Amino acid sequence: MKKLLLIVIFIIAAVAVNPTNGNAITGKQLFKKEECGLCHAINKKGGAMMGPNLSVIGKIRSYSWIRRQIRNPKLNFFTPNSFVIFDGKVYESNMPANKKISANNLNKLSQYLKSLK
Ligand code: HEC
Repeated sequence: MKKLLLIVIFIIAAVAVNPTNGNAITGKQLFKKEECGLCHAINKKGGAMMGPNLSVIGKIRSYSWIRRQIRNPKLNFFTPNSFVIFDGKVYESNMPANKKISANNLNKLSQYLKSLK
């Protein structure tokens, strides 16, 4: 009887800490989910027509720069219709601000991009 109780407790605990419950989405998955890949390529995957290639973004930008860029790009590239030069290409600065991503997911996505070097 005691053994059965222990097994039940074990199962409940296992379900409670199961990483696939709730918040398990990774930064890499968020990049896809938030549709960043429509404009940005990472390692030749994704469209790099409108936005710079982000394959080595972690080498040149800080975590907080990247985080700010996602939430409020105008704070990094302030003037509307200004042009940004990145890896030899010129882009119009018109990245849409992502206001709906949760703070937790924003951190994960920024950490993922910071890790690309
Ligand atoms: C509609 C196209 C578009 C989408 C969608 C988009 N971006 Fe951008 N992104 C741009 C453009 C254009 C720039 C150049 C700077 C600017 O416009 O602010 C840029 C710049 C960046 C930069 C900064 C590059 C540098 O030199 O510092 C990062 C980081 C970035 N984007 C990440 C993301 C992430 C993460 C997402 C998804 C949440 C995303 N972008 C969605 C177009 C886009």
